[in-house]
Amino acid sequence: MADFNKKGTVSITSPLGLAPYLEKEISELGFDINNIRDTGLEITASLNDCIRLNYLLRTAHRVHYLIDEIVVPNPDKLRNWIKSMPWEEWIHEDGYFSVTSRVDHPAIDNDQYANLVVKDAIADRIRFKKGQRPDSGSDLHQSVVFLYWTQDKARIFVDTSGESLSRRNYRSASSSAPMQETLAAGIIEATNWSPGQHFINPMTGGGTLVIEAVMKALNRAPASLRNNFGFMYIPGFDASIYQAVRDQANKQALKETNGKFIATDNDPNAIIIAQKNAQTAGVEHLIDFETCDITETTVPQGSGVVVVNPPYGIRLNENRDLRPLYKNIGDFMKTKCTGKTGYVFTGNLQLAKKIGLRPKSRTRFFNSTIECRLFEYPLYSGTKKN
Ligand SMILES: C[S@@+](CC[C@H](N)C(=O)[O-])C[C@H]1O[C@@H](n2cnc3c(N)ncnc32)[C@H](O)[C@@H]1O
Repeated sequence: MADFNKKGTVSITSPLGLAPYLEKEISELGFDINNIRDTGLEITASLNDCIRLNYLLRTAHRVHYLIDEIVVPNPDKLRNWIKSMPWEEWIHEDGYFSVTSRVDHPAIDNDQYANLVVKDAIADRIRFKKGQRPDSGSDLHQSVVFLYWTQDKARIFVDTSGESLSRRNYRSASSSAPMQETLAAGIIEATNWSPGQHFINPMTGGGTLVIEAVMKALNRAPASLRNNFGFMYIPGFDASIYQAVRDQANKQALKETNGKFIATDNDPNAIIIAQKNAQTAGVEHLIDFETCDITETTVPQGSGVVVVNPPYGIRLNENRDLRPLYKNIGDFMKTKCTGKTGYVFTGNLQLAKKIGLRPKSRTRFFNSTIECRLFEYPLYSGTKKN
């Protein structure tokens, strides 16, 4: 069985653009960072540490524990290398596993082929050692092995997350153009909002931004609604350690928070979905929902942020002219949100100009493959137009 206390290399992935926020989270949890890249970072940690990381990180996608790395020039060498590893210590012979990969190698023009080579080599090894082989397939709900093979360097990991950590499990109903929970968490980190201040979220859609903000304000663990992770399927997993992580996180979560959370949308269906999602997350009672046009959103007195993710005509294939909508966002912020800081997250930089306010900052993000910006507008009285 695997040694859950042994320190090794842990690679934590995040969506493009979120690494600075992941870095902050990791440092706050007390880990030193060995190196950082566009889509994640590496630390030294044990499998027991991975349990905590999976449970507490808001901006991470996956937590990978390195098993081995070597130079692999071709698929035959890959097969032999994988077969030589003690997979019986990592995967139960009567379990289920899947293989995922990121491959950039001249000998491989199809990632699925590399996955197949790894899958067969693991199954052969376990059958040889145990007389039985685990089932395999593409589901990520049990053991997951991740191959990273670029040029000649190959690294093989156990994916201790399984399903992406973006899956918080509160989004039961699907709204149009929802953003990933990890992206919403990163956007919140990029604002100057702090728990205790108001969080106003017109154009809330499925409510991802406002729900993530409440979860943060309550110091509630992002994975508190999950009950399945890849680490649970590693032989040697001690459920009492996982339970202790949960208990400790629950103890540190708050029941109440100051500051209002306001979520509005002009689509009544979006509000129904957002309410349902908030209910599943257990935070519905802390959010004031309203179906209305952005310009009619109630804005309470006091400090806080107004965070808007308008349609931007790419993901929703909108044909309508969105310029008046963006102008209305600017007018709404100028006239009704004085004293707050306004933020607009959009993938359409031309439309953003129609907001008519001078941004103090433009933070780059990616929504899937679409390059986006989070524009920041300080809204003091007499806020200047461009
Ligand atoms: C890109 S989606 C927001 C997605 C959201 N961030 C999420 O994660 O689900 C944009 C939302 O703006 C809403 N919307 C469009 N025009 C609006 C308007 N004039 N006033 C209020 N909401 C509007 C749409 O109904 C849609 O739900």
